[in-house]
This record gives sequence, structure tokens and C-alpha cells, in this order.
Amino acid sequence: MAKKIAKQAKAGGPKPVEELSVKEAKAEHVRLELEIGQHDKRYYQQDTPVISDADYDALRRRYEAIEQQFPDLRTLTSLSNKVGAAPSGKFKKVRHAVPMLSLGNAFTEEDVTDFVDRIRRFLKLSEKDELVITAEPKIDGLSCSLRYEKGKLVVAATRGDGAEGEDVTANIRTIKDVPDALKGKDVAAVFEARGEVYMTKGDFIALNKRQEKEGKPLYVNPRNTAAGSLRQIDPKMTAARPLKFFAYTWGEASELPADTQSESVAVMKRWGLPVNALMKKCKSVEELLKHYRKIEEERAELPYDIDGVVYKVDRLDWQERLGFVSRSPRWAIAHKFAAEKATTVVKDIDIQVGRTGKLTPVAKLEPVTVGGVTVQNVTLHNEDEIARKDVRIGDTVTIQRAGDVIPQVLGVVLEKRPKSAKPYKFPETCPVCGSHAVREEGEVDRRCTGGLICPAQAVQTLIHFVSRNAFDIDGLGEKQIEFFFEKGWVKEPADIFTLEKRNGKLKLENEEGFGKTSVRNLFDAIKARSEGIALNRVLFALGIRHIGETNAIRLARHYGTMEALRDAAIAAGKGNEEVFAEMNNINGIGEVVAEAVVEFFKEKKNMKALNALLDEIKIEPMEAVAKDSPVSGKTVVFTGSLEQMTRDEAKAMAERLGAKVAGSVSAKTDYVVAGPGAGSKLKEAQKHGVRVLSEDDWFKLIGRK
Ligand code: IVH
Repeated sequence: MAKKIAKQAKAGGPKPVEELSVKEAKAEHVRLELEIGQHDKRYYQQDTPVISDADYDALRRRYEAIEQQFPDLRTLTSLSNKVGAAPSGKFKKVRHAVPMLSLGNAFTEEDVTDFVDRIRRFLKLSEKDELVITAEPKIDGLSCSLRYEKGKLVVAATRGDGAEGEDVTANIRTIKDVPDALKGKDVAAVFEARGEVYMTKGDFIALNKRQEKEGKPLYVNPRNTAAGSLRQIDPKMTAARPLKFFAYTWGEASELPADTQSESVAVMKRWGLPVNALMKKCKSVEELLKHYRKIEEERAELPYDIDGVVYKVDRLDWQERLGFVSRSPRWAIAHKFAAEKATTVVKDIDIQVGRTGKLTPVAKLEPVTVGGVTVQNVTLHNEDEIARKDVRIGDTVTIQRAGDVIPQVLGVVLEKRPKSAKPYKFPETCPVCGSHAVREEGEVDRRCTGGLICPAQAVQTLIHFVSRNAFDIDGLGEKQIEFFFEKGWVKEPADIFTLEKRNGKLKLENEEGFGKTSVRNLFDAIKARSEGIALNRVLFALGIRHIGETNAIRLARHYGTMEALRDAAIAAGKGNEEVFAEMNNINGIGEVVAEAVVEFFKEKKNMKALNALLDEIKIEPMEAVAKDSPVSGKTVVFTGSLEQMTRDEAKAMAERLGAKVAGSVSAKTDYVVAGPGAGSKLKEAQKHGVRVLSEDDWFKLIGRK
């Protein structure tokens, strides 16, 4: 089977999504989820991306296409609400009143047409209805939210993971472009201006000239330099680096500045915020594309880096109706410019072993600059991918990297292949522990079978446990975990929390790199986490298959405590179908995830490790989402053909208000919203005595009518 897949891949790339069997789709969906998660981490937290923007987007698209084709898998949306990665910990954290999201991408003219068609369909617009969409440059910087209260700048935060960013107020205040106070009589009482902090090309070159003169290392590109400058601990350092700002949207606002995107930007300008002059209102796809081409032509002459054009629906009431899907708004999209290319030599192919035992091949490259950064590593994904591209050690390869994304190998320059280059043979044993590395039928990945005897997997499990979105313990990162593991001091999560007790013997302060103070700080940080940590973080930390951040939140919200979840999983594992069905029915969970949870709790060694952990930590009860909405915490089922909103719109709206949207009616359902043509679900509702609402009733209930 493995051979067959390799052949297919070689012949024409991955199988079309429509041809995947359910099993293949499931396997690929999970693989993509893990892979994308790793790239996110590399890109956002470690600043060491290994694949290009376009490659990354291709992975993301395939992931989304699979979910579309196999809607059951959509329950595994652990990536869907995720943007970027959590903040790095140097600064105070700021929770965004309104999340800072990302944009979907368009690469072709067809993608732009699809985007506009999708909007028209969603809003049920007729051909006569005019749809105005703005087009403006996509600035290659980093996004920030500037909160003004009574017109005064009170706090400025980076995007972070979208929900929580870093407090960079002191640094933002050093940017000349950013007004300390907004001017005008109509300034909203609370207004969060959002936009991009960037460095001009000229300032970047001048800065690097200074660096060169002083014999200091050169900066890579304006974007990374701007990001680094804004995240300086000392605001004086930020002040010494010339940064600028463009406002293009807003977060929390006590009043909207206007009725449209374009007028709102004009109002922000009037209030004293810098805005980009190249925004244009367009009335058709042709006009959008024309403006795109114009901006692309001017790109080289612009004083700042851009990497595409952003399109946004102009009417704000329509933006509101369109809402968001997973990590980005339906009402906006980024039309990216083509990626930059370069060629270089593959010096070696390294195999990395991940937490789940997956062997990932990484090409070690002769360093090359592309898209403004030096690239030395690029992932080759898996053995089929190596076979398909026939990448060999010694080969010259073309790589591509778009402005802000991870590089990818496009292909081999065959004319430059050295005679000695042999086809790459993927290892069949784990390079770390020597166990067999096997490839299951229908899987693209080869996995080490060593489990926890494989040091790579054990260490990766622990690294995951302390990662940003899990326990996030200051001073306990990859390096320290590797060190403790090698010493045999930390073999499983609970050991982290007993380190201090055991330190009388271990004497960590005597080890190189650990002074008395750092040991004290580390123990304090561990203790702080042990005294109270959110349930969803613990669930995510355990590394249960399919439990990403989003599913961890879903389970945590539903069960409230670890004990309740554990008891449910154990009961379900013993065959209690009702308990299993309850988990399966949690909005966004579903069978595959529920089974993974049950399997995890069935495994004796997991229970032992978990119980040991629970003896050491205190888990905080879970908070609900939008507590104050009339439907928060309620379970709603939509059925029949809705007339005032599409099904997607209805679902998105209900979820925004903190309701759970279920696919089927049970005694636990609070409301069934039924349009014309509702059938069996309506009957079920009557059977269970569930309240049935018309669309109008629904709008009244949520206070929209
Ligand atoms: S609008 C809901 N407009 O691109 C998100 N974003 O890839 C609204 N960006 O996170 C964002 N220029 O950091 C918008 N003119 C522009 C932009 C822009 C750059 C960035 C922004 C965003 C990222 C998404």
C-alpha cells in the first residue's frame, strides 16, 4: 500500500480530496493538523519557519478542503480558531476585548471571484444589488491594537495568539506616527485602533548601514526588524529604531466611526491616525483586480514592504452579517503577490522525531536569501513528498518563500544533479531510539514504534506539556526539559512539580547555567502553575490525540472539571453509550475525538501519569464564554430552510453569543429554530418538549428585533 501511494504521488501529486476514502481523509486531516500546528509554532514562536508561505497555505487549504468534503471531520477544528501563537512571555499580557484575527488568502484571480461570489451568496444579493469592496495594500509589518479611552492612548498590544497579546504600550508611545490623544469632537469614548507597525525600507537600510559600521550583525528584513524593535524590553531601544504605523481597522469601539469601512478609515484619519492613501472603493471583481495590478506595479517604489492587497466589504452592517469563519472574517481576504524564488544546494536530509513518533525529513540547505530572509532548513514533509520531488542529497533545488511565510522546495534543477547523487532512502528505523519506524496503510507518515521508550517522543511529550498554550512555565522550555530528561530527573509531567522537593539531593543550583536565583525563579514559576491552572490548558498539555486548544476548551467547558471528564471517559470506555453519546454530541467534538479521549483514559500508564499529576496541581474550574447573552450556554438546533440568514450565518451568530449549536435534537436541546420545510427534527423537538422558535422568535430572543 505504501508503495502504491508513493507511485500515485509521484505520478500527479496528492490524491484529489474527492477521491479520498473516509479513512484516508481522517488520517490526512490529523496529519495536517499536527503539521500545521508545528509550522505555526516554528513561525510564530521560534522565528524559524521551515516552509514557504505558499506551502503553508497549501497545507491549510487542503485541510479545509478535506473538512468540506468530509463534514464529520469538521468536528476536529482545533486549528480553526487559532491565529498565530501565544505571546512570548517577556511582556505583561493583554486580553483583547475583541479578538484580533487573521485573513484568508487568495492567490489567483479565480480565488478573488470565488470570494466575491461567496459574499453575494451569503448575503443573498441579487445581481442588481451593488456590492462595494475596498482594496488596499497589505502592509508587511506586525499588527497592533491601540486602545484609546476618552481619546487618550491607554494601552497598546500586539496580536499574540489573537485572544491575548503583549502589552507594548511604552514602546508604541515612542512611535511618532501614533498620536497620544485623538483629536475631534466626535472621538468615541472607547476606540481600539488596529493596524500595522512597520519600518520603511529606507530606515531599514540606514539601520543596517549603522550596524555594518559598528561591526554588528545585520538585520534580515524590515518586518522582522520592526517586530524585534517593538518587542524591546527597554522603550529607549524602540525609540532608537524608526517605526511607523498605519491604522486599517478597529477592535472594541463604543460607537462605530461610520457606516462603511472606507468612511471609518477616513474618520480615523481625521482623528489623527495615519492611514494608507492607496485604498480604493471597487464595485466589481475587474475593478479589484485592476487596483491589485496597479499596487503591484507600484510595489517596488513604495517606501514600505507590502505582500499583497486586502479586499474588504465596505458596508459594516454586511461585515457584521458575514461574521467570521474559523480564524478569519468572511468579509475580507488578502490577495497575495507571487512568492520569490531562489536556488540552493541540499547538503543533507535530517530526520526529526516528533511527539507522536512522526519522522519528518528536513532538508539542510546551503544558506540562501529569499523573500528577504536567509533560509537554511526546509521541511520535505514526508517520504512521498521526497519521492515525488525526487530530492537527493547534493541536488540543487528551487525554493520559494513569500514575504511572511515559510519556505518550500518547488523542485530539483536536474541539470545540476551531481552524478553521485542517489535517490534518498527513507529510514525504516527511528534515528533516535532505533525502533522500527512503520507506515500504516493509508498513512503518509512513518512513525517510530518506540512510544515512551523513544527519548525523542518522551521529551517531545514533556516539551508539549510545558509549551505556551499548555503549562507555559517561565524558565522551563525545550532546553531545560531536555536537560532534566537526560539527567533522569523529569520523566513524566508530575516530576516537574516534585523537582523542588527533590532538590536537596539534586542540587540544581550547582549545574552549569542554573544560578541560585534562576533556580528560585524556576521553582516559583512551577509552584505558581501548580496552585491554579485552567482546565483547558491541562487537557491540551496531556497531548491526547486530536485535542488541540479548541477541543480542549470544548471539553473543559462541557465537563467543568477534570474529574467529571475522567469519569465520563472511563464510563464510556466501559461501554456506557449514553455517556459516550453526550461527549460525541458536544458541539465540535464528534466520534473521532471522543474515541481518542476514551482511549487515552483507558490506557493504564496514562491514568497513572495523570493521577500523579493531579496530586501535584490545582485545576481551576472553567469559565463560560459569553455569560451575559440570552442564549449563552444553551443548545440550539437549526433546521428547515432559513430565510433571513444562511445556516452558516445562523451557526456563527449563535456561537458568538455563547450558545452551542448541535446537529441533532435531544432532551438536552434548549431551542430548535425551524424554518419552512423542517421535518424530523421538528418532530423530535415535540417529542422531547423542546421549545421551537421561528426565525423571528430567534431574533427577538437574542435582542436583534
Ligand atoms: S485587515 C480581521 N488590512 O495581515 C483581520 N490586515 O494576514 C483584519 N495586514 O492580521 C485585518 N495589512 O496584521 C488588514 N490593510 C490591511 C492589512 C492587514 C496588513 C495584516 C494584519 C493581519 C494580517 C492577516
